[in-house]
Amino acid sequence: MNIPVATVGTAAAGVLDGLERLQGPVTVVRRCTELTEMLAVAQTGMVRAAIVAGDAEEITAGIADRLGSAGVALVALADDPMLRRRLDALNILNAPTGLDPGDLAELISTAVLALGRSARTAGTAMADPGAALGSGTNGEGPGEPAPGTPESEVRAGTVTAVWGPAGAPGRTTLAINLAAEQAAAGRSVILIDADTYGASVAVGLGLLDESAGIAQACRLADQGMLDDGSLRALAASVSLRGHQLAVLTGVTRSDRWVELRPPALDGVLEAARRLFDLIIVDCGFSLETDEELSFDTMAPRRNAATLLVLEKADTIYAVGAADAVGVPRLVRAVAELAETVPTADPLIVLNKVRASSVGRQPENQLGGAWERFGPGRQISAFLPADYDAADAALLSGTALLETAPASALRAAIADLAGIRTGRRRPVRRPRRAK
Ligand SMILES: Nc1ncnc2c1ncn2[C@@H]1O[C@H](COP(=O)(O)OP(=O)(O)O)[C@@H](O)[C@H]1O
Ligand SMILES: [Mg+2]
Repeated sequence: MNIPVATVGTAAAGVLDGLERLQGPVTVVRRCTELTEMLAVAQTGMVRAAIVAGDAEEITAGIADRLGSAGVALVALADDPMLRRRLDALNILNAPTGLDPGDLAELISTAVLALGRSARTAGTAMADPGAALGSGTNGEGPGEPAPGTPESEVRAGTVTAVWGPAGAPGRTTLAINLAAEQAAAGRSVILIDADTYGASVAVGLGLLDESAGIAQACRLADQGMLDDGSLRALAASVSLRGHQLAVLTGVTRSDRWVELRPPALDGVLEAARRLFDLIIVDCGFSLETDEELSFDTMAPRRNAATLLVLEKADTIYAVGAADAVGVPRLVRAVAELAETVPTADPLIVLNKVRASSVGRQPENQLGGAWERFGPGRQISAFLPADYDAADAALLSGTALLETAPASALRAAIADLAGIRTGRRRPVRRPRRAK
C-alpha cells in the first residue's frame, strides 16, 4: 500500500528528503505551510496521513479529531519531552524529529491502520480512538500514562446525563438534586453543567461564578493538559452536610458554546471518571433544533456537546414536564434520541406531576397517556410538582435537602438516587408499558 501524506512544520523538509529516498510506502503529496492548510487538504481526501514535524505544540485534541473524522491519521515529530507527554495524553502517535525514515514510514502505516480500526468499531462499541491508537510511540515501548493518572489506582466513575426536551421540564433541578443527594451521602461526585443553551447550575447552587469551569477544563483537555490537580482546581466546591460536591459551572454567555467541543469535553469526562465515582451532567436541550444530527461535518454545532455526553453516558435520565405540552415533547425527543444515539437507553422521568394539569390520579393518567403514545418504555419516576420547595431552593441557591428537606419533591429525587431520607413515600405502582 502506498500512503499519500501531507507534511507541515519547521522540520518537514528533512522528513521529506528521508521519505523520498526510501522510494517506498509513503509519498509526500503536499507540503503545507501551516496547520489550517493541512486541515483543508485533509478535507479534500487526497491524503491519508498528516505529519507535523516540529511546531507540534500547535496540535490540540480538536485538530486531531478533525483530521481523524476526515479519515486522516496524524503523526507528530517533536523533541521536547514535556510536549511529547502532552501528545501522549492526547493519544497522538509521536516520535523524535530525528527518527529514521524507515521507522517513520512504519509509524505512519501504524497510524493509518489504527485509524481504520477505530473507524470500523466506532458506533458499535463507542470506540475511543485513543485506545485504538495506543499511547505515543517512540520506538522504546509504550508511552507515559496521561499526566496525573496514578498508575496504581485508576478510578472509573460513571457518567449520568440529565437530558430532556425544551420547555424547562426540570433537567437542572433534577441534576443538582441528584448530585446533592449523592454527595451528602458521602459519595465522590462532580456535577458538570454542559448545557450550551441556558447554563444554570451556578445560579441553582448560589455560586457567584462567572468563570465557566467547564470551558476552562475543555481548554486544558484540548491541549492534553487536564490532569487531576487542574480539574480539582477548576471545580467549585459546594458544602453539603459536611461533604463536598464538586461543580464545573457552565457557559452563561451564549456565544461561548463553541468552547465545548466534543473531543475536549470527552477529555473532561475522562478526567472526571478518573477522579470521581459519579459524574452528573446537566446537558440541557433536546436534539430537535439541530439540522444535522451526526458528527460527520466540520462546522461546530451547538448540540454536539449534548450528543457527546449522551453517547458517553452510562445512565441517561430523560426528563419531561407532566402536562399536555411536555409529554408529547418528551415522546418526540426520546424517539429522536433513539435515532441519533441508538445505544442510548434512557430512563423516563416525568416532573411537575400534579392533578390540576392531567386530572385526578395523575400518575395513572400519565401512565395511560405514555402507553398510548410513548415509545414502549416504562416511566421510571414521577416527581411531584412542588412549587414552594422548588422556589425556595432556587431563591436561596441551595439543594432541596438544605432548603426543603421534608418536601415531597426532595423525597422523590432522593428515592430516584437510591438514598433513604426517612420520609415515608406513598406506595406507587406505575403502569407498565407494553
Ligand atoms: N417538581 C417541580 N415542581 C415545581 N417546580 C419545579 C419542579 N421542577 C423544576 N421546577 C421549576 O421549574 C423551573 C425550570 O426548572 P429547571 O430545572 O431550571 O428546568 P430545565 O433545566 O429543564 O430548563 C425552575 O423554576 C424550577 O424551580
Ligand atoms: Mg437547565
